[in-house]
Amino acid sequence: MKALILSGGKGKRLRPLTYTGAKQLVPIANQPILWYGIEAIAAAGITDIGIIINPETGEEIEAKTGNGDRFGVTITYLLQANPDGLAHAVKTAQPFLGESPFLLYLGDNLIEADLRLVLDEFTVNQFDALTLLAPIANPSAYGVADLDAEGRLIRFVEKPAVPPSNLALVGIYCFSAAVHAAIATLRPSARGELEITEAIQALIDAGKAVEARHLAGWWIDTGKKDDLLEANRIVLDDRLHPQNLGDVDKQSRIIGRVGIGAGTQVTNCTIRGPVVIGENCRLENCYVGPYSSIGNQVTLIDVDLEYSVVLQGATVIHIHQRIIDSVIGQRAYICSAPPRPKAMRFMIGDDCQIELCH
Ligand code: TTP
Repeated sequence: MKALILSGGKGKRLRPLTYTGAKQLVPIANQPILWYGIEAIAAAGITDIGIIINPETGEEIEAKTGNGDRFGVTITYLLQANPDGLAHAVKTAQPFLGESPFLLYLGDNLIEADLRLVLDEFTVNQFDALTLLAPIANPSAYGVADLDAEGRLIRFVEKPAVPPSNLALVGIYCFSAAVHAAIATLRPSARGELEITEAIQALIDAGKAVEARHLAGWWIDTGKKDDLLEANRIVLDDRLHPQNLGDVDKQSRIIGRVGIGAGTQVTNCTIRGPVVIGENCRLENCYVGPYSSIGNQVTLIDVDLEYSVVLQGATVIHIHQRIIDSVIGQRAYICSAPPRPKAMRFMIGDDCQIELCH
């Protein structure tokens, strides 16, 4: 059994962060999203992993993630020249996959479930495809399952205007080598991509053994800001180990589960966990509230912040309103303006989103 992680794509919904980096490297609880997937696959016993990368961000993904040693697996990087769809990515990986059955894992997805159970069921029953379904509030944004009265899978539809159910296709699938012949029959969809839902449909139409199961536990597609914050909340709740490798002064209060990295100085702050703070940060006169992740080399001075993710090297100083529900990019700089003239001053990158409270 091999695994194929898709870590190319366009990442349009996470702009501007994806102008300068891969969305799969955006940190959740200070660890790249992609690494959670690799860890889950390694824990399920798969050691031969291919990762699809694109020409823009592939180098960074490879440099950061390495050859797999740190996860106890072997990683082969596979370049997809254009983001022409999930099924196109599988097609690109065909030389790597050969005749092997494989687990397909979307590199921006996070799940709680134990992949071993999924793999066992797929292998024992010798299915051609095993898909996972999760109930979702906005099915029109996903691949959606149409089931018969007995709950058997009839078809999948990609981003339907009128969804046949509220069951979305989770971004983790098992396939036999039969999927390659199915992909070979596909034409680009209306949005110009080779769709994995259409490949699964082609398998169903060819009478292959295609099954769907309800996913146990949570699943998050981190492709958008609010989903990313939600993923950060869940991972901090589930996996944060409290530790203090930094320097916290006597005036500061640390409440609940808080992780503080080496070289970080905390002065006169209240930090209420779950919160993770990276290395070599400087926090002065701050309140950092639950479900916040602060990357390395971040400076926060006179700031109240909660339910937010602050990326490496960002600086936020002297802000007199609480910052919540925010993602602050690498090296971003937020400060208060001089009192006169009473005005706001911006230097904002393309596709940024700013919400001001008056
Ligand atoms: P998506 O989130 O569906 O697509 P995207 O990354 O292009 O993002 P957006 O819709 O915001 O523009 O992709 C799911 C995962 O699959 C993600 O990790 C990127 C990856 N992917 C590829 O590797 N190759 C592709 O051709 C596509 C479309 C996605």
